[in-house]
Amino acid sequence: MKVERIRGDAPVEEVQGLSRLAFATQAELTPPSGALAETAETVAADFATHGGLLLRDDDGRLLATCRVRRDGTAWVLRRCAVDPTYRRGGVGRRLVEEAHAWAAEEGALRTHIGVRHALTGSRRFWERVGYQPLGERAFYTELVRPLPVVLHGSDETFALGERLAADLRPGDLLLLSGPLGAGKTALTQGIGAGLGVRGAVTSPTFVLARVHRGPLPLVHVDAYRLRDSGSSRLELDDLDLDASLEDSVTVVEWGEGLVEGLADARLEIRIERPSDDARTVVVLPHGLRWSVFS
Ligand SMILES: Nc1ncnc2c1ncn2[C@@H]1O[C@H](COP(=O)(O)OP(=O)(O)O)[C@@H](O)[C@H]1O
Ligand SMILES: [Mg+2]
Repeated sequence: MKVERIRGDAPVEEVQGLSRLAFATQAELTPPSGALAETAETVAADFATHGGLLLRDDDGRLLATCRVRRDGTAWVLRRCAVDPTYRRGGVGRRLVEEAHAWAAEEGALRTHIGVRHALTGSRRFWERVGYQPLGERAFYTELVRPLPVVLHGSDETFALGERLAADLRPGDLLLLSGPLGAGKTALTQGIGAGLGVRGAVTSPTFVLARVHRGPLPLVHVDAYRLRDSGSSRLELDDLDLDASLEDSVTVVEWGEGLVEGLADARLEIRIERPSDDARTVVVLPHGLRWSVFS
């Protein structure tokens, strides 16, 4: 087997032939899959604009294909089709692993897919390759899989914070977890820089929270002592803030299990410290705020 990444000319007829084959064995879907109504032009445009993958056997026969859509730090995998005779041979998994590697190499932090409610086998496949539900849509579930990143040096941690900031909106809640010295504050400094807020972001040692004014204000909370004091939940009043969370981005260090109630959706960011000079980061969104489907 060989997997090829394409961003440009694609063998459109082969791709369409495989799609028809793959979708023909599926249950009748309501509404019908858009894959059946595609034209050669839209397939070609997908591959040219965003790209896709082709998996062939050693004789060059196309066994599986998938297209991608790039949306900031998130990529969408779409129109995934596997030749029905090869479905149990690890072909789908191989294709998807290659898609994840591609997305990670190009800086994506997560991939999303939509799975029709009716396709329970397909749902199991995606869960086995690391996807978890983000939220329910009218006739499908949106699932998401984090793409762990390795960061070498605090500059890279800072830069990741800046990149995350570019996707943030008023009302967003970010939960940072990881041991002492993992880089939670360092990441928050990058987020603050990306948001363009005023005042140095530091560990709020003597206060629970600090507000940084700016175009999109940053509320930086360090719940470490709160956790120590045995509190079971963080309430808005505890923060005693001169800022509205709906108009700000709220970043909470040590907030796991304490602050989930502050917003319907959240971005969980886990930082691990495999060695002194590197960190691994996993970014996992919860809730349709982080949806990449319209
Ligand atoms: N990717 C990285 N590789 C190596 N060291 C890092 C990296 N990111 C941050 N650091 C260092 O780790 C420490 C993190 O401190 P800090 O951000 O205060 O951690 P926390 O808030 O999680 O307790 C800093 O000394 C910083 O320079
Ligand atoms: Mg800290």
